[in-house]
Amino acid sequence: MPAHYAPQTFSITRPDDWHLHVRDGAALHTVVPHTAAQFARALIMPNLKPPVTSTAQALAYRDRIHAAAAAAGHSTFEPLMTLYLTDHLPADEILRAKEAGIVGVKLYPAGATTNSDAGVTDMRKTYATLEAMQRTGMPLLVHGEATSPDIDLFDREAVFIDTQLIPLRRDFPALKVVFEHITTREAVQYVQSAQGAIAASITAHHLLYNRNAIFTGGIRPHYYCLPVLKREIHRQALVDAATGGSPRFFLGTDSAPHATQLKEHASGCAGCYTAHAAIELYASAFEAAQALDKLEAFASFHGPDFYGLPRNTGQITLRRESWTPPQSYPFADTTLKPLAGGEVLHWRMA
Ligand code: NCD
Ligand code: ZN
Repeated sequence: MPAHYAPQTFSITRPDDWHLHVRDGAALHTVVPHTAAQFARALIMPNLKPPVTSTAQALAYRDRIHAAAAAAGHSTFEPLMTLYLTDHLPADEILRAKEAGIVGVKLYPAGATTNSDAGVTDMRKTYATLEAMQRTGMPLLVHGEATSPDIDLFDREAVFIDTQLIPLRRDFPALKVVFEHITTREAVQYVQSAQGAIAASITAHHLLYNRNAIFTGGIRPHYYCLPVLKREIHRQALVDAATGGSPRFFLGTDSAPHATQLKEHASGCAGCYTAHAAIELYASAFEAAQALDKLEAFASFHGPDFYGLPRNTGQITLRRESWTPPQSYPFADTTLKPLAGGEVLHWRMA
């Protein structure tokens, strides 16, 4: 493809979303169809209340997600399931999970983000379980933020690398690790240069926006997520990583729906909802970097290759077309405001 690849329409292998929150119950009927319309598979985060800590819970949750997709006509959509790592997740649960096709185990440092209270308080408490994960080839998916309240919010990812991730990977050099939703130049540099099996997912919103978006014209809670948006130099490093062709970087939306009134609140919840236009938002970011020709590998190849799963065989087509996503969706008994709702987008999935 030419360097300035600027088509009116293009097709890519159907992508997968390697980091997704869909919640549970009636909320599934809003958010699951959005993802299932675009992606063949999505890696489902386990931070429900209570968290998904057993294989049996994960399989039951998978059935509820699958049913919500099928009810909207997307019966081939495949939810890929994860378990929530706690101080007490038994090592033998890893073997059950592996046999049942659970794809990863998620590390939330306790207190790092939404529904992380049950997360890990001290990595040492998880070492027997991590040992079983290393032995069976079960990936560890990491929310990479240090949690100590004396660390500046904007430095938490960089501090996590030095104080937690590097020591952890020294102790478990063969453990497969995904550094989830990276947001800094430091994380890009670490993932690019580290030894062993490591990769990172990158969201569309961290490719499109810097931290000004949270404060432009007043405080804008729908741009607040964790890890929080960072400075422009970090956004540029993420764009370079996503469009640079390295197989260590792949698509993970971290689409994280919260009811409108919980976002527009004195202490608003963290999470940006992007599933309604996920591939379109990524296409905008890649086009702005003149790298549309790099979108397919990032969205459709690098993820399954890292997880050791087959690449998808179907295709999706994107068309250059101006359209405006709705400002709000019904969401259980309330509403959900998507990112870029009411704004003009320039790509649309056919
Ligand atoms: C996520 C959520 O709401 O579940 N929020 C977010 O800001 N990304 C949790 C997470 O992935 O940190
Ligand atoms: Zn997330």
